[in-house]
Amino acid sequence: MTATISDMLLDWYDAHARPLPWRSPPGTTPPDPYRVWLAEVMLQQTTTAAVAPYFTKFTQTWPTVEDLAAASEEDVMAAWAGLGYYSRARNLVKCAAEVATRGGFPETEAELRKLPGLGAYTAAAVAAIAFGQRAVVVDANVERVVSRLFAIREPLPGSRPLIREATDSITPDERAGDFAQAMMDLGATICTARDARCLLCPLSIRCEGRAQGNPLELPVKAKKKAKPSRTGTAFWIERDGPDGAQVWLVKRPGTGLLGAMRALPDDGWSARGDGHGEAPLSGAWKGAGVVRHGFTHFDIELGVAVHAGGAAQPEGEGQWWPVETIEDAGLPTLFAKAARLVLSARD
Ligand code: ADE
Repeated sequence: MTATISDMLLDWYDAHARPLPWRSPPGTTPPDPYRVWLAEVMLQQTTTAAVAPYFTKFTQTWPTVEDLAAASEEDVMAAWAGLGYYSRARNLVKCAAEVATRGGFPETEAELRKLPGLGAYTAAAVAAIAFGQRAVVVDANVERVVSRLFAIREPLPGSRPLIREATDSITPDERAGDFAQAMMDLGATICTARDARCLLCPLSIRCEGRAQGNPLELPVKAKKKAKPSRTGTAFWIERDGPDGAQVWLVKRPGTGLLGAMRALPDDGWSARGDGHGEAPLSGAWKGAGVVRHGFTHFDIELGVAVHAGGAAQPEGEGQWWPVETIEDAGLPTLFAKAARLVLSARD
């Protein structure tokens, strides 16, 4: 009898699984569902290398889902700072509270899907990895591997239903969690976006993309629209406090982009995006330079203005934060870059 694709992949995973902090070794008891869920939420749109230190920090600070449920949103948002996609962090506390109230994570994909912030991917990944349920787990790595394996030439994202069907056809009844993570490891280390290291691939003899010539042509992607760009200005307002210099930080409103995150005050670039950053600075404001950052749907050039001389009176709600510990303020990356720009000019 010929080995199935899942047999071949699982044999490879038994020997080559990446030891990652949220994982159990192949074929062993699954990790605590809390750790699986937390990791999978963090890993959406984010690399394993970027996630690992955050995962360690979170699980040290909040070792159980009950601990996280009891945490303040502010502390969780600050601990998340730098990981991006902050709606994930806002949902994290809500989800933890719901799980703590019901006495643990549900075990089926359908029930997991009902929790705050759990989309199709996360529900399937947690069901498979934490509870050993057969679930079809498709992330960007799996999309690439499966597109190549089955030589799916229809462009993404239109090919998603086909990819899902193909993934379903090779997902085993047993060890679905190991299978899903094996596909991710294969995509991250062998069948990568830049490279197809077919000589090392456990599935190469079954790979239709390779048989047809050039697996690197796959997956085909529909042309993306050019990203719009925005400009704006952030303001650095400083005063001498009792224990040294302090800078004025605000809490961004709402649940939209960077909502509920601590930040430098700014001129509302998120709403305007009309070249406001080009506006000349008046009076006591001096330009410290510009920082650039890419969000999913736009790029931004943020001018940083420093109030020079005399205390500027900040408006609205906020807090004075010690400049010396600004790295602990939990600023999202855009504002952390702005703060570093101001402070590096002083070194
Ligand atoms: N990406 C998303 N989930 C993952 C996991 N469990 N292991 C490795 N990479 C992943």
